[in-house]
Amino acid sequence: MAAFRNRRRTAPVHFAFDISAAPAVTRSVPDTLSIHAIRALQKGRARECPLIILDEIDSTNSEATRLLAAGRPAPFAVFARRQIAGRGRFGRAWHSENQGNIYASFAFRPQIPPSHMSTFTLWMGLGVCELIHHFAGLSPGIKWPNDIVFDGRKAGGVLTEARIDADLIHELVFGLGLNVNTSPGDWPADLRRRATSLGEQARAPLDLNRFAAALIGRTLLDYRRFLDGDAPAAFAERWQRYDTLRGRAIAVLQGEQRFAGLAAGIDDEGSLLLRDARGRLRPFRAGEVTIEKES
Ligand code: BTN
Repeated sequence: MAAFRNRRRTAPVHFAFDISAAPAVTRSVPDTLSIHAIRALQKGRARECPLIILDEIDSTNSEATRLLAAGRPAPFAVFARRQIAGRGRFGRAWHSENQGNIYASFAFRPQIPPSHMSTFTLWMGLGVCELIHHFAGLSPGIKWPNDIVFDGRKAGGVLTEARIDADLIHELVFGLGLNVNTSPGDWPADLRRRATSLGEQARAPLDLNRFAAALIGRTLLDYRRFLDGDAPAAFAERWQRYDTLRGRAIAVLQGEQRFAGLAAGIDDEGSLLLRDARGRLRPFRAGEVTIEKES
């Protein structure tokens, strides 16, 4: 049973964005997700993808997982205006208080072996970066494996969750949290230094519904391309363009263990490559990365 709470009805509002550090930019754009606005902006096959927009939910990933488990046909997308238990990697909380951002999950039933999915999260995250670039003229970077960043400050993250049975992925949920129109003052103090939003970077708010419509189209396309096995060679080159770690002194933390070296891109499996002090390349499938010093 979905832990859905519909505490507040949200009337469409127009959000005035004013970033004090930036030249005075105050413009009005639609800042509340609206199914009608998104549908009017969608083209092609994306219009056929069922779309659920909730005022508030525990986590869109959890809701998509519940709907898949209940037998709902995929693909479909779940967006929320707020989450009360949004989560990220390592079970960390994803701050989801503010409206005007993207909290979205896409549900699929791929029926393929997990070994074919090793680069999926990276592939999808890269697609989001390219979308941001084309949509807003911004230049985000990727911090392996799932952070979308601007100059070391995090604007978004992706989280893939799957149900695997008999060596096949039956249910797959791709989640994206992306700070779009939150201004720095809206975050709790501990996040302010580490977080940013597309609006802050662009020094102007973005049209949330237009972005959501573009995101749905791009995500469905990237998913299809991934399953079709599109150009792995081109993927490595695309990754390099957005990779914020390459050539930097980093440490990979795995539990109590810490491995230091220079980041050297990714391999065909999507593992992070670390060149250690002896010049050996070592792949990491998982772990938390910290940047040791600025280069
Ligand atoms: C991370 O950076 O660790 C990943 C964050 C992913 C957050 C998104 S918000 C929408 C979806 N629902 C969740 O509970 N998590 C993802």
